[in-house]
Formats: sequence, structure tokens, C-alpha cells
Amino acid sequence: MESGEHWVTEAVAEASRLPTEADNWIKPLIHKSQKAKEFAYCPYSKFRVGAALMAHDGTVFTGCNVENACYNIGVCAERTAITKAVSEGHRSFQAIAIASDLENEFISPCGGCRQFMREFGDQWSVFLSKPDGSYIDMTVEELLPVSFSPDDLKKKRVSNTQNGST
Ligand code: THU
Repeated sequence: MESGEHWVTEAVAEASRLPTEADNWIKPLIHKSQKAKEFAYCPYSKFRVGAALMAHDGTVFTGCNVENACYNIGVCAERTAITKAVSEGHRSFQAIAIASDLENEFISPCGGCRQFMREFGDQWSVFLSKPDGSYIDMTVEELLPVSFSPDDLKKKRVSNTQNGST
């Protein structure tokens, strides 16, 4: 098993006598992302994705990908979940679990979703899962190093830009 890779199976849970962190909330969060995947609207790609986002107070928001006949306006599962959370007043997140039907791969969030996550911090967890419930635990920073963030907009800039109004 690679470093950072975990197996969330009944066998592992039973083998360890003490409850693990995964038993407490990671495994249920991954399960919620798998359930959210069932609502995926993906008639074009036929690629189902689900996400479950946990806010700092423990509230979970789920999301799925929602495609459109105008292909480029489709929305990823992660962005659906984050948008639902923000629109209900949550901006501080502990973790997001992502699920797909890829049998042998951990689903990896697209670049746009990484940036969307980054807006709300870079030290929270992203669980990239497989259908069997195994997962890799990464931070937003690990997924999107050297990122552009809201802080960058506050930094000192050169004056008199050619096409900006001053
Ligand atoms: N998709 C997601 O929802 N999340 C990801 O992490 C990767 C890709 C969606 C977008 C599109 O609906 C379909 O998967 C195929 O790209």
C-alpha cells in the first residue's frame, strides 16, 4: 500500500480493536459520496461522480456531476457540493470525499475543482476513493501546489497597468 493510501473495509475495521478515525467519519463520508454518485446526471460522458463535503461543524453536503446538452456548462460533483454548502452559509471545510466508478483508480479531481476547493483554504483533506471504499488522503495544497489564492488579490502590485483602470 502506498503512503497515504488506506483501506476502508469491514475486515480492516474488525481487525483493529480500537475504533479508528476512519470508522468515525471518513468511511461514512466516503459512503455518502458513493450514494451521491447515484444521482449523477451524466447522459453524455456516462461517467458518474459523487462528492460529500464535510463542513467544520460536521454538516455534510453532497453533490454529483450535472451535465448539459451544451457540454461546456456541465458541473462537476465537487463544485456542486461546495456550491451547495457556500449557498447555505458554510465556508470552512474539513474534508471532501470523491467517488466514481473507476474500478482500479482513485478518482482524481479536475484542475478547476482543485482551484474551487483552494478558494476555501489549502490545508483541508480530499479523499480520492475507489468503489471498494479504499482511499488516498491528500490536502488541497498537495493537489494544487503553488496555487493562486484570494490572498494574492490583496498583494502589492505594480502601478499604472496598461489596461487596468486606476
Ligand atoms: N467529473 C467530476 O464531476 N469530478 C471529477 O473529479 C472529474 C470529472 C465529471 C465531469 C463530467 O461530468 C464527467 O465527470 C466526465 O468528465
